[in-house]
Amino acid sequence: MKILITGGAGFIGAHLAKKMIERGDEIVIVDNFNDYYTPQLKRDRVENVLKGLDFKLYEADIRDREKMAEIFEKENIEKIVHLAAMAGVRYSLEKPELYYDVNVMGTQNMLDLSVKHKIQNFVYASSSSVYGNNTKIPFSESDNVDAQISPYAASKKANELQAHVYSHIYKLPTAGLRFFTVYGPWGRPDMALFLFTDAIIKNKPIDVFNNGNMSRNFTYVDDIVSGIMTALDANLVCEIVNIGGDREEKLLRFIEVIEENVGKTADKNFKPMQPGDVPATVADISKLRKMGWEPTTRIEKGIKNFVSWYKTYYKVQ
Ligand SMILES: NC(=O)c1ccc[n+]([C@@H]2O[C@H](COP(=O)([O-])OP(=O)(O)OC[C@H]3O[C@@H](n4cnc5c(N)ncnc54)[C@H](O)[C@@H]3O)[C@@H](O)[C@H]2O)c1
Repeated sequence: MKILITGGAGFIGAHLAKKMIERGDEIVIVDNFNDYYTPQLKRDRVENVLKGLDFKLYEADIRDREKMAEIFEKENIEKIVHLAAMAGVRYSLEKPELYYDVNVMGTQNMLDLSVKHKIQNFVYASSSSVYGNNTKIPFSESDNVDAQISPYAASKKANELQAHVYSHIYKLPTAGLRFFTVYGPWGRPDMALFLFTDAIIKNKPIDVFNNGNMSRNFTYVDDIVSGIMTALDANLVCEIVNIGGDREEKLLRFIEVIEENVGKTADKNFKPMQPGDVPATVADISKLRKMGWEPTTRIEKGIKNFVSWYKTYYKVQ
């Protein structure tokens, strides 16, 4: 099939593009290579992760309606995996207008063009952050999600509403995937695993928020990719689906595994909770499991792969 991946130079997008090209899909990537984090890492992903593979890349902004319309006219796209977004909770508190512009208006452009071009399936990235401060654990797709606590989370919840409207009015098949803390090689420099590994290697202290009293369903990037492909192939009509690891890991255990792999102990600065952050995200993944998906990578192996990638990429002795 011919599939458009927006944000295809991103962490998840590059891994997804690789797997899909390898199984025979024709992939078109749109990415604006913005500088939220170093664009060089995005270019290096395209060059290395997608090395030797055949795909089409447009360096373009999803907010640019004319350019997007041109791409849709030119390519006969059948399905879309829409991952392009301003990601990262903390920066959204500094730049809320940018997050709403890209995540809400950019997504609106993609939905409008999807209807116009009769796209068979519009699969998009939502986030576990839409669960906000919900206390019922695990987080299930049927829970109420009416209380986000960051502009980022609100923009992702808005995406779910936008998609619902278009599924209802225009019968556009949509599936919103709520990813739970994704990690792995080529990961984002603003995320905990990268920050911790980088600091420990450079003998710098790490900030451990909520005094380390946090837990996450960390999800290895290969499991996210297989989850996205499962949802895409299922041709869902108007659904929301969690994709998360199957274990609630304590943050301090996560740090311990990094220390084991780096071979050094972290100098930890215990700090209070950050605004916009939540103490625990635990996924109910039964819905995607029923479609045949299963997460397979534990943090011991996933972190090992990450640290090994980091050392190679940054030429650490
Ligand atoms: N990584 C996670 O833990 C996680 C968790 C929940 C949800 N998500 C969501 O998954 C998606 C992918 O996340 P990621 O971790 O790969 O992030 P990422 O920042 O590495 O990837 C996003 C990509 O989108 C591109 N992009 C951003 N704005 C754009 C625009 N206006 N036009 C075109 N391209 C644009 C960026 O250049 C980047 O390459 C995002 O929607 C994110 O919100 C990620």
